[in-house]
Amino acid sequence: MKGLILSGGKGTRLRPLTHTAAKQLVPVANKPILFYVIENLARAGVTDLGIIISPETGESVQEAVGDGSRWQVAITYIWQKEPGGLAHAVKTARPFLQDSPFVMYLGDNLISSNISAFLQSFTQDDLDALILLKEVENPRQFGIAELNEQGRLIRLVEKPQDPPSNLALVGVYFFTPAIHPAIDNLSPSWRGELEITDAIQWLLDSGKRVDWRRLEGWWLDTGKKDDLLTANTQVLDEWSRRDIQGEIDAGSQVTGRVAVGPRTRVINSTIRGPVTIGADCVIKDSFIGPFTSIGDHSQVEASVLEHSVLLSHVTLFQVDRLEDSLIGKNARVARHNRHRSLQLLLGDDTVVEF
Ligand code: G1P
Repeated sequence: MKGLILSGGKGTRLRPLTHTAAKQLVPVANKPILFYVIENLARAGVTDLGIIISPETGESVQEAVGDGSRWQVAITYIWQKEPGGLAHAVKTARPFLQDSPFVMYLGDNLISSNISAFLQSFTQDDLDALILLKEVENPRQFGIAELNEQGRLIRLVEKPQDPPSNLALVGVYFFTPAIHPAIDNLSPSWRGELEITDAIQWLLDSGKRVDWRRLEGWWLDTGKKDDLLTANTQVLDEWSRRDIQGEIDAGSQVTGRVAVGPRTRVINSTIRGPVTIGADCVIKDSFIGPFTSIGDHSQVEASVLEHSVLLSHVTLFQVDRLEDSLIGKNARVARHNRHRSLQLLLGDDTVVEF
């Protein structure tokens, strides 16, 4: 069983940040989404992984992930020169996939479930394709499944105007090599892409064995509908652990599930988990409340914050208090007593509310 991770695409706008880097590398609880994907595959015993990358962001993906030895997996990078759709990505990966069955996993999808049980039933039930479905509120933005009265899959439709149900295709799919002839028979959709949804429909129409399972637990599609704050809260709530690597001085109090990265110093501050703080940060004379993530090389001084995400190299100085906030890389927020008015230098798509 091989794994195929899709991590291509242009640097796109990630809600609500304008992001020039790969969306798959955006951190949730201080870890890139793509790393959760690799971990889920590795945990299920899928260790021969191909990662589809694009000219725009491929190098940064390679740099972040490396050769996979960190997770004890082997990684083959596969360049997809043009964004041609998910089925086109599979076509591009055919020399890597050969005749192996494989799991295809979209690199911006974050799910709470372990994929092992799905993988097991895909193999045991001798299927040609297994898809995962989950109810969504906005079915027009997804591939949608129609089931008959017995609950059998009868039709799949990509981004329907008039959705036959609210069951969306999650970005994790299991295939045998039967998917390749299905892809060879496709023509581009209205959006000019080779849709994997259409290839699965082709399998259904040819009488192949296609089945589905309901995804229990949460599914965050950070590229599409869920913002980073929601994803961050969810992941910290369920997965964070206490792990103190930096230095906490005697004047500080750190309670609950708090991670403090290497070389970070916490001085005269209170931290209440779940919180994750990256490496090389300084937290001084501050209060950091639950559901906060602070990226590497950030400085927080004389500030109070909770339920917020700070990416890397952020400075907060005398900010009292910050809640429900998302602060991009290299941003600086400071209050100076001598200023009577706000002085702002804000990037694209910024929102300031106070
Ligand atoms: C793709 C698939 C869609 C699926 C979704 C899950 O959509 O085409 O069927 O529901 O991923 O994330 P896209 O991200 O290309 O809009």
